[in-house]
Amino acid sequence: MAMISVQNLVKERKYPFIFALAILLVSTTIFFLYSNNFQSLTFSLGDLQKSNRTTSKPSQNATISPDTTQKVDDANDNTKSDDSNDSNSSNDYENNNTTITNIDSNDHNNLLIVDLKIKWVACKGPVAVDYIPCLDNFQAIKELKSRRHMEHRERHCPQPSPRCLVPLPNGYKVPVPWPKSRDMIWYDNVPHPKLVEYKKDQHWVIKKGDFLVFPGGGTQFKDGVTNYINFIEKTLPSIEWGRHTRVILDVGCGVASFGGYLLDKDVITMSFAPKDEHEAQIQFALERGIPATLSVIGTQKLTFPDNAFDLIHCARCRVHWDADGGKPLMELNRILRPGGFFVWSATPVYRDDERDRNVWNSMVALTKSICWKVVAKTVDSSGIGLVIYQKPLSSSCYEKRQESNPPLCEQQNEKNVPWYVPLSGCLPRLPVDSMGNLVGWPTQWPDRISSKPPSLTTLSDAEEMFIEDTKHWASLVSDVYLDGPAINWSSVRNIMDMNAGYGGFAAALIDLPYWVMNVVPIHMEDTLPIIFDRGLIGIYHDWCESLNTYPRTYDLLHASFLFRNLTQRCDIIDVAVEMDRILRPGGLILVQDTMEMVNKLNSVLRSMQWSTSLYQGQFLVGNKGFWRPK
Ligand SMILES: C[S@@+](CC[C@H](N)C(=O)[O-])C[C@H]1O[C@@H](n2cnc3c(N)ncnc32)[C@H](O)[C@@H]1O
Repeated sequence: MAMISVQNLVKERKYPFIFALAILLVSTTIFFLYSNNFQSLTFSLGDLQKSNRTTSKPSQNATISPDTTQKVDDANDNTKSDDSNDSNSSNDYENNNTTITNIDSNDHNNLLIVDLKIKWVACKGPVAVDYIPCLDNFQAIKELKSRRHMEHRERHCPQPSPRCLVPLPNGYKVPVPWPKSRDMIWYDNVPHPKLVEYKKDQHWVIKKGDFLVFPGGGTQFKDGVTNYINFIEKTLPSIEWGRHTRVILDVGCGVASFGGYLLDKDVITMSFAPKDEHEAQIQFALERGIPATLSVIGTQKLTFPDNAFDLIHCARCRVHWDADGGKPLMELNRILRPGGFFVWSATPVYRDDERDRNVWNSMVALTKSICWKVVAKTVDSSGIGLVIYQKPLSSSCYEKRQESNPPLCEQQNEKNVPWYVPLSGCLPRLPVDSMGNLVGWPTQWPDRISSKPPSLTTLSDAEEMFIEDTKHWASLVSDVYLDGPAINWSSVRNIMDMNAGYGGFAAALIDLPYWVMNVVPIHMEDTLPIIFDRGLIGIYHDWCESLNTYPRTYDLLHASFLFRNLTQRCDIIDVAVEMDRILRPGGLILVQDTMEMVNKLNSVLRSMQWSTSLYQGQFLVGNKGFWRPK
């Protein structure tokens, strides 16, 4: 019929009409192709805040069946790709050298692969297998004017970010599964023997055959870490591990046995230490399946929000708290919750030589000046002593101080995310809500995970949005992520949520044997205080740079609508290189984003020989294998 009409039109020489019809047909086709391929499909925190989530929520009865999961064709073997493009060259999607290998833009179960023609190379150099770009920038470290304040342990990111893939250590194996991993790991996975010898008397780590074994020793845990943990609570029962005290920070954690054993008491610990002469301590911790990160008390603020931790612990952590007018201790004060405790177990507390006495006297003056109170001081049966300080719950002491030294910080209208921010010499005011009332302690654990977070804004719909967000993640995790064959959760332990929002993804996994590092990107809304309020841990980070962690330290990376904002500032190839670095061989990624971003990321991952598939037309599941470039 249509053909007959067109023939008639031609016969009747109605060319302008035919031309207009043709234009209309072409534009409609382009519009459909474009909108199907690039539309934003689902939900994000930002969308929720605009009450615009209806398009995104997977259907309630959604299940994942194998036939809705379509694998794309095998990626081209990139060892055969064009040698003229070396891995350091910039590759973008408009590059004329790229080849589109699969386009079916009407079908969301298909992924579009652009052959990027990247010839990946292995990272080279003495630390290649353990390469951490921002901490191993030896050139920048060499040029430092001072190392007195641990500047050489701070971040110095190379520009541009190196585009190489970290090689595997010889004999690398799938890690020992949790919970066995808390006590033993494969030596070949972290083949660093120095602490075995160096901390022999303190039982940090022992080499036994093919394994490194962790007996729970430490510098201050002469009778074992469990006794030490119980001793702290006996000294101050109001600590109430796992009820009142849920989220803690262990400064200078060694191999993180303190945090590892506190998990038994429902306490989650952010353990941290620098990359220093305590060889591979944080790498051991993460290989054990214990939450940990590389960081240092140096010249800059830690990448945690104000008033985050319920308790901070330092056992001989070698930080001079009273140095530089007390700035290091004032940094702890910033991140400690009002009413929170600082447990300090170090020789100035219980030894009486002149040096220790001087440090103790200096700490007495400093803690008094910031209104911390000694609430306990004791020595255990093995002769190890500790003192417990408490940060004030009200501002009255600040006002009553004879001298305003350190001074109170100026009121800030905007929150200043601590990212390359120097340590401060002023005392932050205690947090108050919009009515001027002091923000209180969160509800006891475990109710805390779903209760209204004290730092949630008092805007009228904030609580409703928080509840909706919690429900959304609970159903997405149970109905989609956990229910179905796409993700093999059996070997998962260390998870990173790269764009954590309110921490809903982590909250939905709370009863399972995983832990989640919740990352709040510095350019997103600052939701990290809420994550800590809920009894979870997290950090700020800029995904346009490399993260302070060792290669192969996470089993699963989750990213919900991270890339569409990020790629306005940096290249998705560099972010994918970082994801490849952090993830263990056999590890998984789970990404939800616009189809444009999903397709871009997919192409890069495929070029790295990952296998990928699209779930329910919207979730990119990526699986990193053992392949490494020569
Ligand atoms: C003697 S070990 C104690 C380890 C552990 N707390 C224990 O009791 O077994 C000292 C620890 O402090 C860390 N450390 C040294 N200087 C630091 C700094 N400026 N900031 C954070 N940690 C530091 C070291 O890396 C190491 O983990």
